Amino acid sequence: MAAISAIILAAGQGKRMKSSLPKVAHPVAGKPMLWHVARAAKDAGITEIVFVLGHGREKVIGTTEEFGGKVAVQEKPLGTGDAARCGLSVLSPKANEVVVLCGDAPLLHPRTIRTLLSVRRRRKAAASVLTGILPDPAGYGRVLRNPDGTVARIVEERDGGPEIRKIREVNSGTYVFDRKFLARNLPRLTDVNVQREFYLTDLVVQALQEGKIVVPVVAGNPDEVRGINSRKELAEATGVLRRAKIDSLMDAGVTVVAPDRVYIEPEVLVGADSLIEPGVALLGKTRIGKGVRIQTGCVVENCRVDDGAHLKPYSVLTDSHVRKGAVLGPFAHLRPEADIGEDARIGNFVEVKKSRIGKGSKANHLAYIGDTIVGKKANIGAGTITCNYDGIAKHTTVIGDGVFVGSDTQFVAPVTIGQGALIGAGATITKDVPPYALALSRVEQKVIENWVIRRMPELLRKAGLTVPVLNKK
Ligand code: UD1
Ligand code: CA
Repeated sequence: MAAISAIILAAGQGKRMKSSLPKVAHPVAGKPMLWHVARAAKDAGITEIVFVLGHGREKVIGTTEEFGGKVAVQEKPLGTGDAARCGLSVLSPKANEVVVLCGDAPLLHPRTIRTLLSVRRRRKAAASVLTGILPDPAGYGRVLRNPDGTVARIVEERDGGPEIRKIREVNSGTYVFDRKFLARNLPRLTDVNVQREFYLTDLVVQALQEGKIVVPVVAGNPDEVRGINSRKELAEATGVLRRAKIDSLMDAGVTVVAPDRVYIEPEVLVGADSLIEPGVALLGKTRIGKGVRIQTGCVVENCRVDDGAHLKPYSVLTDSHVRKGAVLGPFAHLRPEADIGEDARIGNFVEVKKSRIGKGSKANHLAYIGDTIVGKKANIGAGTITCNYDGIAKHTTVIGDGVFVGSDTQFVAPVTIGQGALIGAGATITKDVPPYALALSRVEQKVIENWVIRRMPELLRKAGLTVPVLNKK
C-alpha cells in the first residue's frame, strides 16, 4: 500500500481561549486536544504524522513524541495555507496522499478519515473535504456546491455577505489531498482577503482551474467537525467524549448509577458487573477488574483495581495497585506505588505510599504507612505511623507476617519487626524486634492519690462536682 501521511495544523494562537497555553495543548477528557487528533490519524492507519506548531510548542512535546511525529515550525500564523506549506516541507517524499487535519477538532473519528481517503481515490479528485451541516454554523467557512454536488468554493464567514451566512454546510478543516496537486498549488496561494491570511480553502478554486474536482463528504455526526475555539466548546467536547465512554462501558456490562455524574477518561478500562456510584472520577490509564464497587467521591488515577475489590466513599488512589477483594476507605489515600494485597483492608484516614500490604492485612484507622513492606495477616493499629523520613533520606520499615501493632505506634525507620511479634500500644520503635517478641516502650504509669482535691479543687467545682473533704492526718 502506498504511504499516507498526515499534516496536523496546530500553530494557531487560539485567542478566544484567553490563555497562556497554546490552544491545542488544552485538555479534552484529560488529554491535549492535539492528542485526540493524532490518535484518530494513527487509528486510521496513518504512519507518518507531521505536526505544524508555533508559539508554545514545547507544551505539546509529549504528544508529538508519543506519536513519533515530525514537527514543522510555523514561526508566524500566516494562515492555514501557509501552515500546510510548512508541514509539506518536512513530509517524506514517499507519501502520495496527504491528510490535513485541524489540531483543534478533537472529535474526529478514524473511520471518517478512511472514508475521505477512499472517496477521493474513487472519484480521482484533487481533494476530498469533510463538511458538516450545523444548526448554528457561525464562525465556520461555508461550502458552496456545484450543480453536480462537488465543491465550488469555500468562503470564510468574514469574507462573505449575508447570503453566505445563510449556508449551513460548513468546512471542517479536514481534507485529503493528492500530494502532487498540493505541492503544485500551495505556493500559488495569496493573502488577498479580510484576514490577510493564506487560506488553504482557496485550493478549491485552484483545483477547478486545473479541471479537477473537490468532493465533499458530509459528516454523519456533526460533532466531528466541531473546532474548539473557546473554553465553553472545550467543556462541550469533553462532555461528548465522557458520555460516549460511559455509554460504551454500560454496553459492556458496567453499572453506572448516575451516568451524568461520573467522569471517566477515554483510556480507562472497567470489567463487567462493576458498579460505579455518583461523583466518581476514573482517570488516565486506570484498569478496573470485574465486580468492583466504586462508591461516591472516589478519584482513581492510573491504578489497577482487581476483581471484587471495594472502594468505599471518597477514597483517592494514584499510581497504585489494589488486589482482589481488598476493601478501601471511606477516605483512604493511596499515593504512588501502593500495592494493597488480596483481601487486605485499608480503612478511614489511612495513607499508604510506596508500600506493599500483604494478603489479608489490616490498617483500619488513622495511619501513615510509607516505604513499608507489610507481610500477611498483620494488624496495624489505629494511629500507627512509619517515620520514614529523617529530613534527608527515606528509610524502609519491614513488618512481618501476623505482626500485631498496638495503637499509636511509631516505627522510626529503618526498622524490622519479625513475624508474629506484638507491639504494645503507644510504642516508639527504634530498634528491630525479633519474631514472636513483645516490644514495649512507654513511661510507666504513676498515680498520685487525691491530687486534684488537694491541688486543683476549682476543676471539680467547675464541673459541678462536690469537692470531697479529706481527713487531715
Ligand atoms: C478554518 C477554515 C474554515 C473552517 C474552520 C474549521 C481556513 C481559511 N478556514 O477556519 O473554513 O470552517 O477552520 O474549524 O482554512 N492554524 C495554523 N496556522 C495558521 C492558522 C491556523 O496552524 O497560521 C491551525 C490552527 O491551529 C487550527 C487550524 O489551523 O488548528 C484552523 O485554524 P483556525 O484559525 O481555527 O481557522 P478558522 O478560522 O477556524
Ligand atoms: Ca477553528
